[in-house]
Amino acid sequence: MSHIEDLFQALWADYTRIAPQAPKIASLLQARGETIVNDHIALRTFAHSEVDIEVLDRAFVTAGYEASGRYDFAEKKLTACHYEHPSADMPKVFISALLLDECSPRLREIVSQLVAQIPEGAQDDWRFPVLGRPWSIDHKTYLELLQESQYAAWVAAFGFRANHFTVAVHKLKSVDSLGALNQVLLDEGFILNDQGGQIKGTPQQGLEQSSTMADKVPVEFSDGSFSIPSCYYEFAFRHKMEDDSLFNGFIAGSATHLFDSTNTQS
Ligand code: NI
Repeated sequence: MSHIEDLFQALWADYTRIAPQAPKIASLLQARGETIVNDHIALRTFAHSEVDIEVLDRAFVTAGYEASGRYDFAEKKLTACHYEHPSADMPKVFISALLLDECSPRLREIVSQLVAQIPEGAQDDWRFPVLGRPWSIDHKTYLELLQESQYAAWVAAFGFRANHFTVAVHKLKSVDSLGALNQVLLDEGFILNDQGGQIKGTPQQGLEQSSTMADKVPVEFSDGSFSIPSCYYEFAFRHKMEDDSLFNGFIAGSATHLFDSTNTQS
């Protein structure tokens, strides 16, 4: 039996707790008469046999999702897969994983110690993608990971849950471009990720995306509570291709900057 609706609800409820900007922006859009459709949700993991993409994707594949595209982000040492459901109403699912073989021995050692703490059988539960952090970690180790990979530090601190939800801006009625939505958000005081420009991708490529900067939330580490960047809210505008169908993929080059918007320096 598939629990996919419950899983998406649990992922959204969990995400809004650590990304308080997201429900605020959702309410803002709803107040403009919009119905929000999710373009995709993104999950993050380590390329480790216990928690790999093919472990995290089980609940989605069981519900009928199919792997539809593979991506490599060489600069970030990431691989990723996106999944689509036969029902076009369902959001795409984008799962990425850090290629541990390309990381330092110390990073691999830390990740092995974290993964070893996962309770037996946790991966078999349909709620695994929203399990949260099934290990303890101290803040010093988090900072050590952050030196090498923001991505590794995020997964180590937050575990398994949605990294972001993404609004399908092309399905909104009150704005006709991503730039127009960005301006609405800026006027309301939200801060957008500007690395690589506010808009990543072009209409010619089929996909434009933008995002807020990540919220910061207190996280419990084994040596105390520390405020760290959590999640951003993302916005995608898909364009029609020559055959008049919407572009449904992702663009490795322009998305590289989106992995950076957890980087709040101030
Ligand atoms: Ni995304």
